[in-house]
Amino acid sequence: MSSDDQLDLLFDPSLISSSVQQLLGPDLHLRPLASDDVKRGHFDVLSVLTVAPRLSPKAYRENFDQLKACSGTYFIIVIVDKASDKIVASGSIIVERKFLRNAGLVGHIEDIAVSKTVQGKKLGLRIINALEEIGRARGCYKIILDCSEKNIPFYEKCGFKHKEYEMVRYM
Ligand code: ACO
Repeated sequence: MSSDDQLDLLFDPSLISSSVQQLLGPDLHLRPLASDDVKRGHFDVLSVLTVAPRLSPKAYRENFDQLKACSGTYFIIVIVDKASDKIVASGSIIVERKFLRNAGLVGHIEDIAVSKTVQGKKLGLRIINALEEIGRARGCYKIILDCSEKNIPFYEKCGFKHKEYEMVRYM
C-alpha cells in the first residue's frame, strides 16, 4: 500500500479523525481520495450506489484536479484495505458557503458506499463519523443528506433525524 505522502491527496489528511482510524484497526486505512484511486477500485465501490462507469485514468485525474481546485469545498474520503490496496468504502462531504447565518457553512453528505462484501461491519458508520468531524472542523453549522427510506435506520443509528423532503427534476 502507498503511504499518504507518496500520493496526491484531495485535501490535508490532518482533517481525518485519528479516533475513527483507531476504531478501524490496523488492517484498514482511512484517508482523503487520491488522484490515482481509479486503480484501487473506486468505481467498484461506487457501483453499489448507482451506475458508475469507470473513467480512464486521465479523465479521473482531470476530474480530481477540478475538485481539488475548489479549495475547502470537496472532501471525499476512502477506506483502503491495506493487504489488497483496494478501496472498500467511500463517502463525501461538500461544504457550501451561504450568505445567511453570517455567511454560514452547510455540509452536504453524499455518495456513501461500502463494498457488498464488507457491509454490516460498521464501515458506513465510520465514514459518516469521519465526514462529520471534517464538517465540524470546517465550521459547518449543520450537515444534511438525502437518502432512500430503507436507509433511514442506518442514518438514525449515525445520529441523524428525519426533516423535510427531497424534490428532484432530472435533466
Ligand atoms: N436498515 C437498518 N439498519 C441498518 C441498515 C439498514 N438498511 N444499514 C445499516 N444499519 C445499521 C446497522 O445494523 C448498524 O447498527 P448497530 O450499530 O445497531 O449494529 C448501524 O446501522 C451501522 O451500520 P454499518 O455496519 O456501519 O453499515 P454499513 O457499513 O453496511 O453501511 C450503507 C451502510 C452505507 C447503507 C451500506 O450498506 C451501503 O453501501 N449500501 C449501498 C449504498 C447506499 O445505499 N448508500 C447510502 C446512500 S445515501 C447517501 O449517500 C447520502
